[in-house]
Amino acid sequence: MKKADILVLDFGSQYTQLIARRLREQGVYAEILPFNVSLADIKAKEPKGIILSGGPASVYARDAYFCDKGVFDLGLPILGICYGMQLMAHHFSASVAPAGHKEYGKATIEIQKDSALFKNLPKKQTVWMSHSDKVENLPQGFEVLATSENSPFCVFANEEKKFFALQFHPEVQHSEFGKNILKNFAKYACNCESVWNMGSFAKTQTEKIREEVGSDKVLCAVSGGVDSSVVAALLSSAIKKQVIVVFVDNGLLRANEREQVEFMFKNTLKTDLISIDASEIFLSRLAGVIDPEQKRKIIGNTFIEVFEQEAKKHSDVKYLAQGTLYTDIIESSVIGASKTIKSHHNVGGLPEKMNLKLIEPLKEIFKDEVRVLGLELGLSKEVVYRHPFPGPGLAIRIMGEVNRPSLELLRQADVILLEELKSTGWYDKTWQAFCVLLNVKSVGVMGDNRTYDNTICIRVVDASDGMTATFSHLPYEILENISRRIINEVKGINRVVYDISSKPPATIEWE
Ligand code: XMP
Repeated sequence: MKKADILVLDFGSQYTQLIARRLREQGVYAEILPFNVSLADIKAKEPKGIILSGGPASVYARDAYFCDKGVFDLGLPILGICYGMQLMAHHFSASVAPAGHKEYGKATIEIQKDSALFKNLPKKQTVWMSHSDKVENLPQGFEVLATSENSPFCVFANEEKKFFALQFHPEVQHSEFGKNILKNFAKYACNCESVWNMGSFAKTQTEKIREEVGSDKVLCAVSGGVDSSVVAALLSSAIKKQVIVVFVDNGLLRANEREQVEFMFKNTLKTDLISIDASEIFLSRLAGVIDPEQKRKIIGNTFIEVFEQEAKKHSDVKYLAQGTLYTDIIESSVIGASKTIKSHHNVGGLPEKMNLKLIEPLKEIFKDEVRVLGLELGLSKEVVYRHPFPGPGLAIRIMGEVNRPSLELLRQADVILLEELKSTGWYDKTWQAFCVLLNVKSVGVMGDNRTYDNTICIRVVDASDGMTATFSHLPYEILENISRRIINEVKGINRVVYDISSKPPATIEWE
């Protein structure tokens, strides 16, 4: 069994994988296990430390999640985060109750006592809170390390046992020194060394793919995005002659996308590509459907149907490879105790029964890690730094029914947005940029005439892994140009609005 430096026990937080990846960034190999894993399985991994993640439950609720209590007797350093903190407090007989004042977003903490956790860090720092319960008194044997305005017990520890508890989430980007806190825990409390890197990841995945596939064939579904292109590159280097690369035009693509993807695979990636036009079947199944989850499920199911039909045309195809990322999995909630946010087409949108077995080498990592891996595998910067584009495509950017006229309106507006961002250098500065057709009509005046037309919403966000995001602060002049061009050039649009919400509490895509 593969050993892990740090084990993260998952209590269902949206951010659990972020904990593991922050540690990977510091060269520490971390593995995630479900919260109820047996003590024997934990011991078999020979970890140097344990992290208890956050989670949506309450420790005092009837359906609370508990790990094996023996975890606290292993003699290992433990870091409890949010729910993990409350669990630690509860275990050591402190009281946890609903907070009168729920705390979401930024807060400032003030360090009260020196500790390994805060080594070389400033006394005051910004952190990211997301909790509705609070610890009411200090557990016996623990002392306060840091306070916040709302919490006298924001960080506490039993230094002798190396048990640390944080009310905030150090793993999210908005916690200013969160990464350093996790590093300090790994380095000073657990004595971990920094030796892991993306090269080790590529090597382990290559071995895993070869072992699993044997002499069978793999159908590799690509979209032109970085994730599936990296999977195709990984498979090509691991089992070149056994890979069949397939691209499906689902009728929900952006303008000229199909041609661009075909060109990219032929010329940049030098890979044979089977291109299938399935737009008719996707669009007919989506006719009249307005519920976002239903749209996603129809699209996920139809993709698989098309792949399976293609697989039958070749001999010995037993596997379907997809560029599923951890973000897709956590939001679709197919692991642990997490809540469903949206069913990503390649995860929660899949049919219950499939003839092909899935291969998803990227399912434990994040987009920016995929980009590093892509460069490592020799993909061009152009491919690696393309904005993400979701599998369900424009269907989840049209509120309400998806039909050809709406798709056409959206495509035209989208072309203008991307042109303007590319020509001003903002495309490369942002994580993702797209238009949403709101299906909201409003009154306008053009020339001397009244119009009653559609509204386009522009969504441009900054993010590093898509788990959290903030709206991009585009200069007003650029926004003005985009708005003017869309209204002047796209017939049927008379109003443009800019989405200024962050994720959370919004998400990046509208559906
Ligand atoms: P959300 O909307 O969940 O999006 O904040 C996070 C990132 O994931 C992309 N996304 C998807 N990608 N299949 C995909 O391949 C999907 O079903 C899907 N849904 C969202 C989204 O574009 C953003 O980059």
